[in-house]
Amino acid sequence: MKPIKVGLLGIGTVGSGTFNVLKRNQQEIMRRAGRSIEITMIADLNTERARELAGDSCEVVNDGNLVVTHPDIDIVIELIGGYGIAKDLVLKAIANGKHVVTANKALLATHGNEIFKAAQEKGVMVAFEAAVAGGIPIIKALREGLTANRIEWIAGIINGTTNFILSEMRDKGLDFATVLKQAQALGYAEADPTFDIEGVDAAHKATIMASIAYGIPMQFDKAYVEGITKLEASDIRYAEELGYRIKLLGITKRTPDGIELRVHPTLIPEKRLIANVEGAMNAVLVQGDAVGATLYYGKGAGSEPTASAVIADLVDITRLATADPEHRVPHLAFQPDALSNLPI
Ligand code: HSE
Repeated sequence: MKPIKVGLLGIGTVGSGTFNVLKRNQQEIMRRAGRSIEITMIADLNTERARELAGDSCEVVNDGNLVVTHPDIDIVIELIGGYGIAKDLVLKAIANGKHVVTANKALLATHGNEIFKAAQEKGVMVAFEAAVAGGIPIIKALREGLTANRIEWIAGIINGTTNFILSEMRDKGLDFATVLKQAQALGYAEADPTFDIEGVDAAHKATIMASIAYGIPMQFDKAYVEGITKLEASDIRYAEELGYRIKLLGITKRTPDGIELRVHPTLIPEKRLIANVEGAMNAVLVQGDAVGATLYYGKGAGSEPTASAVIADLVDITRLATADPEHRVPHLAFQPDALSNLPI
C-alpha cells in the first residue's frame, strides 16, 4: 500500500519531536498503522532550521498555503499555534480534503465548532490528542476507553507551567515572578504566559475535554476562569499547615442544571494522589458511572511527549482513512447535528 503523505506546519519544539520520533520508531509505527507514514513537506518561516532537521528527506517551504493545497498531501499537522494563520490554514486544508492533526487547544476551544462542522461537511478527520495534557492519551481515554460510561466529572492539573510554579513556591519558598521566569526558560510556558498563569490555557483544555465527555459544542466563553496570580507564598504555607496543597484544577461536571466548566486554584487534601503531582507534570481524574474513578498521569508538555500524541493521531487517521469510507467512524469531538446543548 502506498505511504500516507504528511505535511507539517511549524517545526518548533513539537514539530521537531514529531519528525524525530516518526523517524526513530518508523518500523513500529508502520506496523501499527498498516502503512508507512512519511513527512513529505514542511512549512516554516525559518527554512534553515527545517532543512537542518529534515535534510533532503522532504520539501521545505516558507508558506503553509503550499502544503495545505498540495495535491499529494493526505494529512496536515498544524503546530503553528494561535488563532490567526493557524485557523486559516486548518480551514484551507479541510476545504482541500486533507485530514488535520493539531495540538492547538486555543484554536479548538474558540473556533472548534466551525472547524469540526467544516470537516464533517468535507468528510475529513480532525484529531487533537496533543491539544490536552501533552503525552497523556486523555482524549482517547474519554472517547474510546471510557466510551461505555456516562462521565460524571473530570478534574485535572492540565497546565504544567502553573503546577511547576506552585510546586517551586511551596518547596523552595520562591516568589511567583522568579519561578515564572524559570518556567519560561524551561519552555513550559505559552508564548504569552498570561494564558498559563491566568488559567486560560487550562480552560481551553477543559473546554475540549467537556466537549468530548458530554457531546456538547466547545463553549469556552461560558467557562469560569481564575488563575494563580493572586496567590501568595503565605497562602501556600497556610494551606500546608492545614494539611492541603493548592493546585490549579480544570473541572467539568455534570449537574442537574447543566454542565459546569471552571478553572481555579483548589485546596486538595495532601493525602490525595493528585495533590502530590509536582513540577510540570499533568494528571487528570475522570469519574465514570461504570468504571468509577480513573487517574491519568504524565508529561503535559515538551517535544517528544507531545509528539507521542501527534503521532498517535497520525496512526489513527491512517487506519481510518484506509477503511471503507462508508464504514468510517467520524473522528470528531462530537456530531454537530446531534448536540445536547446543555446550559453551562
Ligand atoms: N503551556 C502549556 C503548559 C504547554 O504549561 O501546560 C502545554 O500545553
